[in-house]
Amino acid sequence: MSDGKFKKELGQLPYGVSVVTVGFGSTSNGLAVSWLSQVSFDPPMLMFSIDKLHYSTELVEDMPSFVVNLLGDDQTELAGHFAKRSMADEQKLDAYDTKETEAGQIILSDALAYYACDVVATHEAGSHWIVIGQVTEAAVLRDGAPLTTAHGLRYTK
Ligand SMILES: Cc1cc2nc3c(=O)[nH]c(=O)nc-3n(C[C@H](O)[C@H](O)[C@H](O)COP(=O)(O)O)c2cc1C
Repeated sequence: MSDGKFKKELGQLPYGVSVVTVGFGSTSNGLAVSWLSQVSFDPPMLMFSIDKLHYSTELVEDMPSFVVNLLGDDQTELAGHFAKRSMADEQKLDAYDTKETEAGQIILSDALAYYACDVVATHEAGSHWIVIGQVTEAAVLRDGAPLTTAHGLRYTK
């Protein structure tokens, strides 16, 4: 499938690579995300962009919150796991250790840091939804350099 117009040019843009976790308990999932940014200091807010056709999008539409799990440069394999499309009987989150925020959202235990957010707005952007969240809980979990698209990972169709 094509990435559309300006594939080469847009492919130059640098990004971090995180896993966004959504949902609670058995109704939960995680997906690799690089189109993500802080968008406000006060209050602290983050946004990410999610393809309207992803399985995770159904969960995002139903859930009032999400967690950004910042990955380290030693977590390429984990990123690849969460970049796989969800299969009917698969729970991608079972493959890695998780813990919970105070509100019960799912955190990847080995992330560098996490940011739990309440969804405050969603905006349509072509093929994607932009999801904006206000940070309600966050912590740095360990030292390390962040995983970025410079490590050979890239969001492609
Ligand atoms: C490095 C990398 C970055 C990605 N960034 C995004 C992103 O920002 N938004 C998005 O919707 N999908 C992104 N993806 C694709 C999803 O992770 C992938 O489609 C995944 O299968 C979706 O999970 P789901 O099927 O469980 O919903 C990225 C994939 C990779 C490899």
